[in-house]
Amino acid sequence: MADTDKRSNKDLEARAAQGSYRAQAARAKGDDAPVKAPPAPRKGTRMVPLPSDGIVPERDVHATPVLECRHLGIDFGGLHAVEDFNLIVGKTEIAGLIGPNGAGKTTVFNLLTKVYQPTGGTILLDGHDTAGMSTARVSQMGIARTFQNIRLFSSLTVEENVTIGLHNTIRCGMWSGIFRLPRYWVSEKEFHDRSLELLDVFGMADLAHVQAGNLPYGAQRRLEIVRALATGPKLLLLDEPAAGMNPSETAELMENIRKIRDRFQIAVLLIEHDMDLVMGICEGIAVLNFGRIIAKGTPDQIQGDPQVIEAYLGTSAKEA
Ligand SMILES: Nc1ncnc2c1ncn2[C@@H]1O[C@H](COP(=O)(O)OP(=O)(O)OP(=O)(O)O)[C@@H](O)[C@H]1O
Ligand SMILES: [Mg+2]
Repeated sequence: MADTDKRSNKDLEARAAQGSYRAQAARAKGDDAPVKAPPAPRKGTRMVPLPSDGIVPERDVHATPVLECRHLGIDFGGLHAVEDFNLIVGKTEIAGLIGPNGAGKTTVFNLLTKVYQPTGGTILLDGHDTAGMSTARVSQMGIARTFQNIRLFSSLTVEENVTIGLHNTIRCGMWSGIFRLPRYWVSEKEFHDRSLELLDVFGMADLAHVQAGNLPYGAQRRLEIVRALATGPKLLLLDEPAAGMNPSETAELMENIRKIRDRFQIAVLLIEHDMDLVMGICEGIAVLNFGRIIAKGTPDQIQGDPQVIEAYLGTSAKEA
């Protein structure tokens, strides 16, 4: 066996000892592929239970949860894509929603953003019931999202993509725009300054004039997040933000997600298959399988949960 192979095996065992799904899955398959270095140790967050069956970071316990889903569900014909979904996300929490392919994760985001209206259940955003609201209305109320497949205006510049998001927070007025009144020029400057400020969070201000479609893949994913941030959200939903990123881009993304939460004091709910990222930054995690939550808890609790391991490996934790 080559030296690199020996090293891979050693890494694999180390990750397996830590309970990494990827390592366990690889071991179950007899796969010797190298496993990424473990993430930087996360700062401990004490999670505390709420009376209404949920856990939030201790720092958020006295604030209204930014999101509370009660018995949420949607059927597509005979398929219960999401069923009895209950989740609480604290005001400044970084939360994770994970689960195997087809588990219903993106459907939950589509319910939260009103792409679909639920068949049953309630969604409270910052304590307000969003029943019957439109996508535009919940965006104004503070939900922003990125998509599993990048959706940018690829022929517009980076700055223009961000400016579109800013229309939630900076108002110009129709007549000011048509007649180029002084208010219009003030708004234009506000749009420009704010766009650059947001792009700077991801170190992208110098790319402001580049056409979005010409950006490398990782930068397009980052731009999607900046555009979502521009709408001034209280809750940022990220659907597989690390998909297709290389390990160093993923590590940088983790730092940036933390930075966003710290700087803007918002909550983040992310769907992700990259377990290093999820376990490295999420404070609370919910695991979905066949449309139902099968486990909720801290990363440590989730990593050791036999039902979760079974859902991921398709075999009992013992056998794996
Ligand atoms: N509009 C729709 N009509 C019918 N079925 C749908 C619709 N949207 C989603 N589904 C089904 O709901 C289930 C959950 O899909 P969803 O896209 O939410 O999974 P996911 O957990 O995001 O998976 P992945 O990890 O592959 O992205 C799947 O069986 C999917 O085919
Ligand atoms: Mg999905």
